[in-house]
Amino acid sequence: MIPFPFVCWAKNLVFSLIKHLIHVDFHEIFQRMKPMDRVLFLIIHGVDRSGMQWHRFPVFLGIAYLLTRRHLHNQYSLLNVGKNPGNDGFNPSDFRYRTADGKFNDPYDKAAGSADSFFGRNMPPVDHREGLLKPNPMVVATKLLARRQLIDTGKQFNLIAASWIQFMIHDWVEHLESTHQIKLEAPENVADQCPLTSFMFYETKKVNTGLDDIKKGHLNIKTSWWDGSSMYGSNSSELHKVRTYKEGKLKIVKDNHLQQDDQDELDISGTIRNGWIGVSTLKGLFILEHNAICDVLKKEYPDLDDESLYRHARLVTSAVMAKIHTIDWTVELLKTDTLRVGMRGNWYGLLGKRFKDTFGHVGGKLLGGLVGLKEPNNYGVPYSLTEEFVSVYRLHPLLPDYFYIRDTDSPPGPNKSPNLSHKVEMSNAIGSRGEKELANIGFTTRMVSMGHQASGALELWNYPVWLRDVVPQNIDATDRFDHVDLASLEIYRDRERNVPRYNEFRRSLFLIPISKWEDLTNNQDVIDTLREVYGDDIEQMDLLVGLLAERKIKGFALCETAFVIFLIMASRRLEADRFFTSDFNEKVYTKKGFEWVKTSESLKDVLDRHYPGMTDRWMNSTSAFTVWDASPDPVSRIPIYLRLPQ
Ligand code: HEM
Repeated sequence: MIPFPFVCWAKNLVFSLIKHLIHVDFHEIFQRMKPMDRVLFLIIHGVDRSGMQWHRFPVFLGIAYLLTRRHLHNQYSLLNVGKNPGNDGFNPSDFRYRTADGKFNDPYDKAAGSADSFFGRNMPPVDHREGLLKPNPMVVATKLLARRQLIDTGKQFNLIAASWIQFMIHDWVEHLESTHQIKLEAPENVADQCPLTSFMFYETKKVNTGLDDIKKGHLNIKTSWWDGSSMYGSNSSELHKVRTYKEGKLKIVKDNHLQQDDQDELDISGTIRNGWIGVSTLKGLFILEHNAICDVLKKEYPDLDDESLYRHARLVTSAVMAKIHTIDWTVELLKTDTLRVGMRGNWYGLLGKRFKDTFGHVGGKLLGGLVGLKEPNNYGVPYSLTEEFVSVYRLHPLLPDYFYIRDTDSPPGPNKSPNLSHKVEMSNAIGSRGEKELANIGFTTRMVSMGHQASGALELWNYPVWLRDVVPQNIDATDRFDHVDLASLEIYRDRERNVPRYNEFRRSLFLIPISKWEDLTNNQDVIDTLREVYGDDIEQMDLLVGLLAERKIKGFALCETAFVIFLIMASRRLEADRFFTSDFNEKVYTKKGFEWVKTSESLKDVLDRHYPGMTDRWMNSTSAFTVWDASPDPVSRIPIYLRLPQ
């Protein structure tokens, strides 16, 4: 037997040799890792440090890098917030449907992911109390965020894509506010450039977690599951408003107008706060989808009552939305062959669609995909969405300044592009004013117009100025009295919620931190302004600023730092959910319902189902999320796994 002191000495020797290969900021986490994970860490870290860049690898190697990274994050980047309810189980066969508030999904923890549970974390919180106003958020917003001139995404991403992600955000997250108001004031040096020189807003509510390490947390008032709560609501009273209680269906008015409350003329379907006509157009479309599923199920299974029809149609509709997001929206956002394989791999596995459709889920998550796994997996941490997830989804620069309305009565021009009819200021397209102004132009005109307009790019100096003086809404979509400067508020929110600033955020994700401004960007104008706002203190740079300033991977509409959070959480949304794993089958969804999910591959499929002929006439592109007059995706004869990035 080898004496213990010798083992320790040998371990230290090995570590001191390996240490030179590892960035000093990762020594501590490396020592905490399990032996096999250390090896995996050395691989991805070696790739990062050498400057080889995983996204330049042939597809199969890029995928291997991403799988390795995801594995490590599932082990070290999931932090529980909120008292663990323990083995608070139930019998899943009593709940073969999605409940109104998201309870009873995780068989070992009935409250996991439900409305009003805690946001989790992907990294330890950082107390910013000292630096809550350093530098002043209104200075950061004015000097680094405010749009100077619209920068768009070219043909890559359109306004449907921007509305889609807001539609999903409304499904996933919303922080509970306290009743305490805070005031932010613009310092003199920027006051004349701020649309509001001061503004009031409600603090995020802090709640005791009952834990020793993370003592306070914040509550998500939405269900964190991918369950369509943007349409169905996150509790039974919201759900009650939208159900007709006839044949499982939801309320909708002719030509896809959302049903409104008789008294105050506000929409009644699910999340209605801080929306705009783009989101309600998508919401209307998916209410039609839900109702069409009810019709098919009723025809096939005439004995199903209203409740059963509703429950099955909700399962199917939510799965269709999750699938579109995974293999259509995200593929356009991160437009590379590697991510195409990765996202389709999450749904279908590396064996692919044809194999899975024929033989079902075979093998583990690598071969068969996350969807349809035998068991959900939360990696020992109750499922929730996280603070960092909310922070990287602060994508308001996607919004343009005007919504260009197209003329869909005249014939299409080159590449199926429609003529311009008129433009509407975005500030008039939001809230109930926007609904009133734009509901009557009809679904086709709204959709075609959004399809043909590029979204804004996720860059500095591209934050819509109209959102710096916007009327926030209450949860019931009534307007608040105090306008807010959303750009400044977002900087404040990340600090208030103890989300690390950019460089620490990167470290926590095992990404090499920057050591000088030039590591982030080669735009000298940006570097000068960063220096003006933060001096030479790189560690002070706010997360949102860093995310928008970071050089992007070719084909990615957002930066790599944000992408790593997606890598963790997009997989987790599927893998931790019983209805995408052990209960993703014909028994739970019905044979017809399951077939519906299988045969729906894209948003285009849903549009074609409800508005036949529309995409044929107006859409030249392959995906409904790219600008519709773009050329279709080229076909390559090289097998996708062997392709090299362009
Ligand atoms: C016209 C469109 C939009 C309006 C009027 C709007 C308005 C707002 C407002 C007022 C807030 C609350 C800010 C606070 O108190 O912290 C908010 C939060 C947020 N918005 Fe938007 N937004 C719009 C579009 C979008 C889009 C396209 C995205 C894209 C992902 C987005 C993502 C978010 C996120 C992640 C939050 C934080 C939620 C939370 O704190 O839990 N929004 N938005």
